[in-house]
Amino acid sequence: MAIEAIPMWIPHGVLHEGAEATVTAGSWLGRPAVLKTRRARGYRHPDLDRRLTRQRLTSEARILGRLHELGFPAPSLIDLDQGEAWILMSRIEGRPLYESLKDGSSGIGSLEHLGRIIRSLHEAGFSHGDLTTHNVIVSHDWQVHLIDFGLARQSPELEHLGLDLQVLKECLTASHSSLEGAVDAVVRGYLDGDSAPSETESASRVIERFQKITGRVRYHG
Ligand SMILES: Nc1ncnc2c1ncn2[C@@H]1O[C@H](COP(=O)(O)OP(=O)(O)OP(=O)(O)O)[C@@H](O)[C@H]1O
Ligand SMILES: [Mg+2]
Repeated sequence: MAIEAIPMWIPHGVLHEGAEATVTAGSWLGRPAVLKTRRARGYRHPDLDRRLTRQRLTSEARILGRLHELGFPAPSLIDLDQGEAWILMSRIEGRPLYESLKDGSSGIGSLEHLGRIIRSLHEAGFSHGDLTTHNVIVSHDWQVHLIDFGLARQSPELEHLGLDLQVLKECLTASHSSLEGAVDAVVRGYLDGDSAPSETESASRVIERFQKITGRVRYHG
């Protein structure tokens, strides 16, 4: 279905124009919503491109659907069109953690909270794949929500779980270096959020792997 014809969708304005996706804010049945459309990247073969775009879109939609069932703090899926490569979801009203850490309205407490949320994502059987502070929204009631599940994996390996923490660490070090104890706060929250379900790697195993990855990155400079 062409984007102009999505029932009940009223676009308000572009929120974000990325390399691969355009995100438009609007409303759906009067509720705050966002439309994410994926663009072909151009430098890949067009058929391959279309397939990859479609795959990421469907995988994001599937994961949003599953997380919603579990009551996980992420957008809920409203609609998608694979052929036209768009996905419509609820809008989390708030600000990216990136901004609220910069201006000091969020701090160590939010990072501990984020650690617990990451743990519950992992316990739900998913890795995120792109855990930067741009992909975390702090809502007006100070709840931490995750967005952007285009690179998320179902049934991830221990390495993917450790990598989620490593990507976040790199982001905190590069963009929020003045915030002391940021990584420790995430780790604290992560360990604290461990409810040790049998099918998931324990929080301490994931932290161990994360520290190994950090060591590897440092060694290879
Ligand atoms: N459901 C949502 N609620 C509120 N804001 C959102 C939502 N989805 C996206 N945004 C805003 O739009 C920005 C870009 O969205 P998103 O991270 O999903 O796309 P992207 O980074 O371009 O995607 P990708 O990395 O998959 O190409 C986010 O950083 C956020 O500010
Ligand atoms: Mg993003």
